[in-house]
Amino acid sequence: MSERTRDLPRRSCLSVPGSSDKMLAKAPTLDADMVFLDLEDSVAPLEKESARAKVVDAVKNQDWGEKVLCVRVNAWDTKWTYGDVIEVAGNAGERLEELMLPKVQNAAEVVALDLLLTQVEINAGLPENHIGIEAQIETTTGLINVEEICAASPRLETIIFGPADFAASMEMPVLTGGVQIPEYPGDHFHYVFSKILMAGRANGLQVIDGPYLKIRDMDGFRDYVNRTKILGYDGKWALHPDQVSVLNELFSPTQEQFDHAHALLEAYREATEEDRRGAVMFGDEMIDEASRKMATKFVRRGARAGLRRSESDES
Ligand code: GLV
Ligand code: MG
Repeated sequence: MSERTRDLPRRSCLSVPGSSDKMLAKAPTLDADMVFLDLEDSVAPLEKESARAKVVDAVKNQDWGEKVLCVRVNAWDTKWTYGDVIEVAGNAGERLEELMLPKVQNAAEVVALDLLLTQVEINAGLPENHIGIEAQIETTTGLINVEEICAASPRLETIIFGPADFAASMEMPVLTGGVQIPEYPGDHFHYVFSKILMAGRANGLQVIDGPYLKIRDMDGFRDYVNRTKILGYDGKWALHPDQVSVLNELFSPTQEQFDHAHALLEAYREATEEDRRGAVMFGDEMIDEASRKMATKFVRRGARAGLRRSESDES
């Protein structure tokens, strides 16, 4: 995988149909942390093959700044996957750092992509293991196998939940995937979110939630973003520019949380290294090694989102 991208923020992951010249041209101007140019479900079957050249052209000739740049290929149960990989990864050059594999069913599908990429990289003169893999879990079989999928390849950088396809795979009685179901007393995806998150974290992956399809419903979107953010997800897809800024805001710690985490780490360091005590009071709470771990995650995530500690807070 590309060393550059593994740890870059992916608070907002913008989906861009690879057949749309207009959307391909607009994507670099938006403030998304990550952009994926899609060859899969947002591209009509008759446009699939011609979209490959458009995507290659966009990767090579547009200025993507620091964004994580990814192309979503078609799933292994179609006739397009190998052609997508060879044509796109083989011609797009080094700026392409990720391929997203949808509807992953088992570890073998990730291994197959890894092996194919190894050959494509050699033939295209790309650095070894340059291209990372982002795997989507969006079928019942994929969810059952998510633990082996997350451990399948060192190229894996993220695991992503695909709520629309997953709702279809489960035969849920809904017509819009990835939104609240008010009649259900709870969060109908809570188990799914948690299972994917655990498998991803156990393998050091970033964990991302998929699309919210009611793109005009910003209140519903905020509510839904909070659900996965509170569980610990790193980011979520954006289908529309308006969703990007909400994601960047909600998936970043606040300045107050960031400063608090720094202060906690400092107090804990003093307690353990200077006073040789493992548990001490910090304000009105007891902190110990577990508190240090929680604070470290906040600091890392805040730094990744570009936060700096407030000067007044530094000692
Ligand atoms: C995304 O691909 C989804 O199916 O939700
Ligand atoms: Mg899908």
